[in-house]
Amino acid sequence: MSRPLIADIDLGALRDNYRLARDRAPHSRALAVLKADAYGHGATQCALALADMAPAFAVASLEEAVALRDAGITQPIMLLEGFFDAAELPLIDAHRLWVAVHSDWQIDALLAYHPRQPIPTWLKLDSGMHRLGVAPEMFVARWQRLKAASTQVTALHLMTHFATADALDPTYFRRQMTCIETLRQRLEAPICLANSPATLAWPEAHGDWTRPGVMLYGSDPLEGANDASRALKPVMTLRSELIAVRELATGEVVGYGGRWKASRPSRIGVVACGYGDGYDRHAQDGTPVLVEGQRVPLAGKVSMDMLTVDLTDVPEADVGSRVVLWGEGLSVDEVARYCDTISYTLLTGLLPRVPRRYRNAEMM
Ligand SMILES: Cc1ncc(COP(=O)(O)O)c(C=O)c1O
Repeated sequence: MSRPLIADIDLGALRDNYRLARDRAPHSRALAVLKADAYGHGATQCALALADMAPAFAVASLEEAVALRDAGITQPIMLLEGFFDAAELPLIDAHRLWVAVHSDWQIDALLAYHPRQPIPTWLKLDSGMHRLGVAPEMFVARWQRLKAASTQVTALHLMTHFATADALDPTYFRRQMTCIETLRQRLEAPICLANSPATLAWPEAHGDWTRPGVMLYGSDPLEGANDASRALKPVMTLRSELIAVRELATGEVVGYGGRWKASRPSRIGVVACGYGDGYDRHAQDGTPVLVEGQRVPLAGKVSMDMLTVDLTDVPEADVGSRVVLWGEGLSVDEVARYCDTISYTLLTGLLPRVPRRYRNAEMM
């Protein structure tokens, strides 16, 4: 038997979550965000699973887009950060990609290029995230330059990103919305604003397009969940098995540094999964793990290929018992909280040595 760790990917759940994103913003088109290998789920398989539903996809680099084209994906693909070098423009043109532009050098390069057909272009506004984008006071001039360049540019949209759409306090979100609205009205611009939390929580941000990412994979980005976010289904279930079980006397310790110490006679289970697979080494003692469907606490530091759990209260658990690290029955969001991180890092951090097994592809 081979190592029992697998990432079980439910493409039916992905489709259901996409449908939910679409239903949540019924007057918008939802561009499915597939960057970082579809948040660790496999971009090609996810794109194929959504191919008859999603009018467009989004990725972070030309390489990610070309891999989707090579796999036969024909939908428009948006490069969320545009190009990193003007030398990418011929391939962008050849593969009929869409670009976001956020800097003057990109605008200059785009306008100096002669594409076979005009390139759909979204001009990114810095409405308050202060990461990428054109400052509000310079936005109109940049917009007008692009608008006038009909040989190079088509389907010009205003795009921006929210810094706090997942927060309970709406103050900063509203400040960003005010900035966006002023420009949208002045330019009569079609817009694309909403990431997952804005798709779920802020109808005023839906616009012409939404850009849901993490919610497609079943993670709930809202600090305060709502009915829609609670209906999301996990797409990835990280499954393994117990490969050893041992009895420890009171006072004995487990794992590197002896961080966990038995406060009673204890049964410790060893799970085939470690940080060499992408499981977070920052997971604290007590991080939940499911063994045969029952929650047990992580006990001791995560090692490269294994982690250890306290099975004392689950006497029926034994070598070969089924383990879920996150996914069905145990949300990745909850596990992330115990690791002092977010679901995004756990999902995108799953390493290539973990085999992905796809199910419900036949529903497509
Ligand atoms: C520009 C942009 N749009 C959309 C998304 C999707 O965000 P989320 O996964 O929170 O839905 C991201 C993710 O980082 C992003 O950087």
